[in-house]
Amino acid sequence: MPDTITITDNRTGKQYELPIQDGAIKAMDLRKIKVAEDDFGLMTYDPAYQNTAACKSAITYIDGDKGVLLYRGYPIEQLAEGSTYLETAYLIMFGELPSASQLDAWHREITLHTMLHENIKQFMEGFNYDAHPMGVFLSTVGALSTFYPDAKQIFNQELRRLQMVRLVAKTPTIAGYAFRHLTGRFYVRPDNELSFTGNFLNMLFRMTEVKYKVNPVLERALDVLFILHADHEQNCSTSAMRGIGSSHVDPYSALAGAAAALYGPLHGGANEAVLKMLLEIGSIANVPAFIKRVKGGEGRLMGFGHRVYKSYDPRAKIIKQTADKVFEQTGRNPLLEIALELERIALQDEYFISRKLYPNVDFYSGLIYQAMGFPVEMFPVLFAIPRTAGWIAQWEEMLVDPEQKIARPRQIYTGAAPRDYVAMERRGKSPVTSSAGS
Ligand code: CMC
Repeated sequence: MPDTITITDNRTGKQYELPIQDGAIKAMDLRKIKVAEDDFGLMTYDPAYQNTAACKSAITYIDGDKGVLLYRGYPIEQLAEGSTYLETAYLIMFGELPSASQLDAWHREITLHTMLHENIKQFMEGFNYDAHPMGVFLSTVGALSTFYPDAKQIFNQELRRLQMVRLVAKTPTIAGYAFRHLTGRFYVRPDNELSFTGNFLNMLFRMTEVKYKVNPVLERALDVLFILHADHEQNCSTSAMRGIGSSHVDPYSALAGAAAALYGPLHGGANEAVLKMLLEIGSIANVPAFIKRVKGGEGRLMGFGHRVYKSYDPRAKIIKQTADKVFEQTGRNPLLEIALELERIALQDEYFISRKLYPNVDFYSGLIYQAMGFPVEMFPVLFAIPRTAGWIAQWEEMLVDPEQKIARPRQIYTGAAPRDYVAMERRGKSPVTSSAGS
């Protein structure tokens, strides 16, 4: 017998039996619940989509209570241990781990597309000398749409795949140029003999040397961080990618919107905010007073808490281990002591325990990035590069899903009741008052 739920409408005394599938009822089934034939039917009210599944997805699985994260069924811990970012991107985008020859071909394909059109370089040079690299990144990704008019053909599978490859390949180059712009240095073209992350480090940090020498420990650490950030199911930026993409715009325009959503301090901007917070706290001695202020409602403990994880974020655990390896190379980040003390106090404090607030992916990642030589403004960009794989995989999944349509939520109107326009000469001196809520 199929699972159903019976709802009794006390307004009419009628009963409705609604099917339950995958632990959910269809919101559209509620529309059958009406008080009269011309009634619109019952809606759900769910600001911030806290309890609404807007899609079916086979990409990423999270069990927030148990701290589980799987990409296409593979545990994040195993991917961080054995995979590379490019292989993980392939897995996320195409559903399976590649064979050796598929991986080779994938590397070649990505490498072939790392270059940017010279006009894009000129476009980027137009930004102010101190432009935030994330603002530069998202604007430039949007601008790519004008360079690739074929990207509009989103239902042509071959062309769609080409844009997906271009996006994975070109986002590090855009990020590299944005960084060099901020630092006032010449732009470094991709070196296709290096690995994905090795080349990225080259584009950021090469100075006068003919060939950039990649530090293999930092290269691997960055690769692990990229694996951890590659997808995270229906978060704010991914929902933006799907929502914008649902209008059938090209993927560059949609990805610019997703990157804009990531920029905010409650999402991908949190790693930047964590670093600023640690600098502001300044020393271990100031930690108790800071925690007291947070508990008193004065700001948040950045890098803590998550909409889905109600236990330790599994990515934060891996990042903590990666941090030790990086600090062996770069020396310990002095802010680490403050972060460890914040975590120690918060994890035994009733305020954080009762609200299930634990360190998230952003709590320690900034410390690693800073030790590697990235300025804080680059942190959200470092999140956006790997998340590109997740965004475009989710975008494609949405496009080919026959149940999806243009995203268009409902609202509950709280404004004025219908009223007649008042001509200016009849309005008098006092402002026309609104009867909002009536
Ligand atoms: N510090 C202090 N209190 C917090 C925090 C925090 N970081 N996060 C949540 N709370 C409190 C909040 O004040 C509320 O308390 P009360 O019930 O007394 O009003 C309760 O915990 C529930 O918070 P919420 O805002 O309803 O939770 P949410 O699921 O809407 O928010 C969040 C999730 C990630 C936006 C939030 O935890 C937060 O602002 N964290 C800090 C920013 C951050 O680290 N963001 C990165 C998230 S992970 C990576 C990513 O997604 O990009």
